[in-house]
Amino acid sequence: MAVRALLHYALEVPDQSIGEKFYRHFGLVDAPSRDNAVRMRPARLTRETVLLYPGQRKRLHHLAFGAPGDEMQAVRESLAGAGVREMDTPSGAPDGGIWVRDPDGHAVNIRPEGRELPPADPPLTLNSPGHIARVAERGCPEGLEARPRRLGHVLLFTPDPDRQIDFYTRVLGMRLSDRSRSIVAFLRCTTDHHNLAFLASKGPGFHHASFEVGSIDEIAVGAQRMLDAGCPPGWGVGRHVIGSNFFYYARDPWGSFAEYFHDLDHIPEHCAWEPRDFPEQDALYRWGPPLPEYFGHNTELD
Ligand SMILES: [Fe+2]
Repeated sequence: MAVRALLHYALEVPDQSIGEKFYRHFGLVDAPSRDNAVRMRPARLTRETVLLYPGQRKRLHHLAFGAPGDEMQAVRESLAGAGVREMDTPSGAPDGGIWVRDPDGHAVNIRPEGRELPPADPPLTLNSPGHIARVAERGCPEGLEARPRRLGHVLLFTPDPDRQIDFYTRVLGMRLSDRSRSIVAFLRCTTDHHNLAFLASKGPGFHHASFEVGSIDEIAVGAQRMLDAGCPPGWGVGRHVIGSNFFYYARDPWGSFAEYFHDLDHIPEHCAWEPRDFPEQDALYRWGPPLPEYFGHNTELD
């Protein structure tokens, strides 16, 4: 019994066109829309991964997970067994699957679909001490642009990380990968180190969504492009301890973030991975610019 994919996330935003512009600069493209939502996707995928609905203020509209094949019925039974009542599809939201609310009140859609993966890139050719992969060939990229390949994860604020962990692991079958005390926790439903994470706050909120890119160069080029486009400074480039990925967080028009990530820890379904509880100083990063004060700010509580 388990969800097996993070399919998309949907936000309510006060101005959809501003949101669309932000995600276009970030590197996503428009997906066809059949309703009142702006839908965007990584260029190499066919399905939308970001939906923007009109709303008073920025907030999470819903998260969608995939439960392909027999998993769908198993998830339905698990929800019933846990006493979680299914609800009607929120107005305007995609039809199909099961709709429930998580303990923080977020709408969650579980759909009978698997994940859509982009075609593999050619392997990186990096020269390192004693290991030469690139011979008689210049390595500095020409005309490089950040092109998000796929949605990796979403991080939500929560007033009660343990209650959220319990729901998403016990009821939806996700697994805890790592955590840092009661500050932050990382769950997976694929081979990614995390597909959903929780950061402690006084209330619920949407913190960021993260997209995979092909190299550290792409992260840095994307960060510069967002600054050139007039976005306020975000955070990065740096490297996380938990999940190990390189990161840059572009600050969106509502004070939350869209992250570029590269080189995330990979955890096969059957392996000896043991979740670790990291000390507080490892909760966020190993190296990078100093943590800006606005990074952990939950603007939905202002
Ligand atoms: Fe992230």
